[in-house]
Amino acid sequence: MLFFTQAAAALALFNGLATSSPLASRAAAAAGPQSTLQQITDLYPDQSGKAKMYVYVPPQLAPKPAIIVALHFCTGTAEAYFTGSPYAQLADEKGFVVIYPESPHEGTCWDVSSRETLSHSGSSSDSASIASMVGYALKKYGGDASKVFVTGSSSGAMMTNVMAATYPELFQAAIVYSGVAAGCFVSTAGLVDAWNSTCSQGQSHATADQWADTVHDMYPGYAGARPRMQIYHGSADAALLPPNYNETIKQWSGVFGLDAEKPASTRADFPLAGYTTTTWSAELQGIYALGVGHTVPIRGDDDMAFFGL
Ligand SMILES: *[C@@H]1O[C@H](CO)[C@@H](O)[C@H](O)[C@H]1NC(C)=O
Ligand SMILES: *[C@@H]1O[C@H](CO)[C@@H](O)[C@H](O)[C@H]1NC(C)=O
Repeated sequence: MLFFTQAAAALALFNGLATSSPLASRAAAAAGPQSTLQQITDLYPDQSGKAKMYVYVPPQLAPKPAIIVALHFCTGTAEAYFTGSPYAQLADEKGFVVIYPESPHEGTCWDVSSRETLSHSGSSSDSASIASMVGYALKKYGGDASKVFVTGSSSGAMMTNVMAATYPELFQAAIVYSGVAAGCFVSTAGLVDAWNSTCSQGQSHATADQWADTVHDMYPGYAGARPRMQIYHGSADAALLPPNYNETIKQWSGVFGLDAEKPASTRADFPLAGYTTTTWSAELQGIYALGVGHTVPIRGDDDMAFFGL
C-alpha cells in the first residue's frame, strides 16, 4: 500500500510501452496476436494472495517450445503487458509460450522487498509463484527446460533480477528493462511489496563482491549455471535513477567473476543513436540509453537474438 502511493507517482509513469519501429509496423501488419490471453486457474489450490498466471499459446506451437516469462510494470496487468509488449506477436512467429504473471498486490508492483521473495523457495512469495508457473508451463506444454527466459519492465525488471537471483536454475537468460539490482529494494523490516527510496534514488551503492553476496545469499550453496544477463537503462530515468544501471552491472559482474571496470568491448550508438552497448562476456551485456527516461522501449527482435530464439 505504501508502495502503491509512491509507486503510483513513480513507476506508474511506465505506460504506453513503445516498441521499436520495425516491430511496431510488423505488429500493425499482423493486427496483433493471432490467439488470446488465457488465465490458468488450476496452478494453486488456493489463489488468495498469489500471483495470477496468464499464458499466451500461439496457434502454431513449436515442438518442445521455449518459454518466456514477461513481467509487467506497476499498475500494469498481464493483459497490459500482453498488448503493450511484442512477445505475443513474436510467439506467433516462433512458436514459444509466453507466461504473463500478474501481481496480487495493490497497485500491482511486484514484491521485491520481502525476505520470502528474495529467497529460493520462499513458499508463498511472488518469486516462488512465478517459479511454479514455469514448472507448470514446462509440463503442460511440453516445454524445453533449456530454453526458459525471463524479462520485464520497471517493477517487472526488478523482478527479473530477483528471479535470476532466486531461481537461477530455471532460466537461461534474462533481459532487464529499467530495473534495480536484486536485493536493492530490500525492506529491512521484512515488509512485502515495500518501496525503497534509497535504492530508487540511486543511493544504494555496494561493491561487486557485496552485490554478488546478496545474490548468493538468496540461494545459499547453489553452484550451478546462471542466466545470461542483459541490462537496459535510460540516462534520464527519474523513477529508478541511473546509478541503478551501474549497480546492477556490478552485481552480475561480481556473480560472473568479471571486472565491471574492464568490459570486453564498448560500442557507441548501438543499437540506436545515443545508446551505448557494453559487453563484458557472453554472460553480461549492458545497454545504456542516453536521454531516455524510465520507459526504455522493448526491442523485441534484439531480445530474440539475446535469447537465441
Ligand atoms: C533499502 O535498501 C537498501 C539496500 O539497497 C538497504 O540498505 C536499506 O536498509 C533499505 N531500506 C529500508 C527502509 O529497508
Ligand atoms: C557508471 O560507471 C562509470 C564508470 O565505471 C561512470 O563513468 C558512469 O558515469 C557511471 N554511470 C552512472 C549512471 O552512474
